[in-house]
Amino acid sequence: MCNIVLTAGLCLVIASLGSSERLVCYFNSLAEDRADAGKFTIEDIDPNKCTHLIYAFSDINDFNELVPTRRADIFRYQLFNGLKNRNPSLKTLLAVGGPTFNKEKFTTMVSTTQNRTTFIQSAVALLRIFQFDGLNLDWMYPVGAGGDPDNKQKFTLLCKELNAAFETEGKKHNRDRLILTASVSAEREVIDASYEVKNITKDLDFLNVLTYDFHGPWENVTGHHSPLFGGSHDTGDKIYYNTDSAMQYWLDKGAPAQLLNLGLAAYGRAFSLSSASSDVGAPANGTGEEGCYTGEEGFWAYYEVLLYYYEL
Ligand SMILES: *[C@@H]1O[C@H](CO)[C@@H](O)[C@H](O)[C@H]1NC(C)=O
Ligand SMILES: *[C@@H]1O[C@H](CO)[C@@H](O)[C@H](O)[C@H]1NC(C)=O
Ligand SMILES: *[C@@H]1O[C@H](CO)[C@@H](O)[C@H](O)[C@H]1NC(C)=O
Ligand SMILES: *[C@@H]1O[C@H](CO)[C@@H](O)[C@H](O)[C@H]1NC(C)=O
Repeated sequence: MCNIVLTAGLCLVIASLGSSERLVCYFNSLAEDRADAGKFTIEDIDPNKCTHLIYAFSDINDFNELVPTRRADIFRYQLFNGLKNRNPSLKTLLAVGGPTFNKEKFTTMVSTTQNRTTFIQSAVALLRIFQFDGLNLDWMYPVGAGGDPDNKQKFTLLCKELNAAFETEGKKHNRDRLILTASVSAEREVIDASYEVKNITKDLDFLNVLTYDFHGPWENVTGHHSPLFGGSHDTGDKIYYNTDSAMQYWLDKGAPAQLLNLGLAAYGRAFSLSSASSDVGAPANGTGEEGCYTGEEGFWAYYEVLLYYYEL
């Protein structure tokens, strides 16, 4: 399936559709390095499709400072923010963290007031130098399996201090306050362990709820990874493994609805089947093959799913 020529739909942007006036899209800068038809560059972005564009991902250095991940990012930040010339109401955010990020860096950075202050000051400087409109915290997750339980309160403090610093900086220079956002878990146990929901929602402009990867090849039967509602195969705790349940949980914990963005996955998860059945709930015993362009086992971008579909 890898040799079919693609003519459309190369956008690698993952959208989160929130209240009707917000459509937030991620740009994965690693997509610039993909082969031929899978390559997606800043020039390929239509700046009028989304209200907010997020550049993913930046890094935290050994001194707790927010920094570009690669040298090439510096030039790309400029191109990315240049998109605002073509859509003056577009807002751009820089994301820090992401699914493969070394979580220890966040833990070290939030651990003391001084380390947080260093991060916050470096973030303001980096965002302003490159003309981003704000920051997107992508810490996955403050308290995951085996994480430091104190990170829950530390994350609250980080949000609070960032918000205060953005407020002060905006007033001082008489310009719009930088926007502060976070991408957060959709899993009950992680939400309970990681977030003081009422506290952080006072300081964040919006939250992207990552309502995907509810099911995947790490399980022994097939399942939709981003279902809207639960299915007949979901029993026990799995009744919570769907978008509706996750959004409701954030509301129940006190998050204002207008701050919540619902995540839409622009990718699929592939399983290896261990029987002739290919239904939802069919026995599976491993991760499916990798996509031609994204190159991660069992992970297919939307356009890679289409390649498979059209080959059939
Ligand atoms: C604060 O940051 C410094 C520099 O990264 C690090 O060496 C130190 O361990 C951090 N403090 C704590 C308490 O983790
Ligand atoms: C979160 O809010 C509660 C209630 O106002 C407060 O008691 C708690 O100290 C706050 N957490 C942090 C880390 O400030
Ligand atoms: C999965 O099951 C299939 C069919 O029974 C078998 O051919 C394959 O070797 C199994 N794969 C693994 C990784 O166990
Ligand atoms: C999957 O794992 C669960 C729990 O370990 C087990 O009860 C179930 O029988 C397994 N299903 C298949 C198809 O292997």
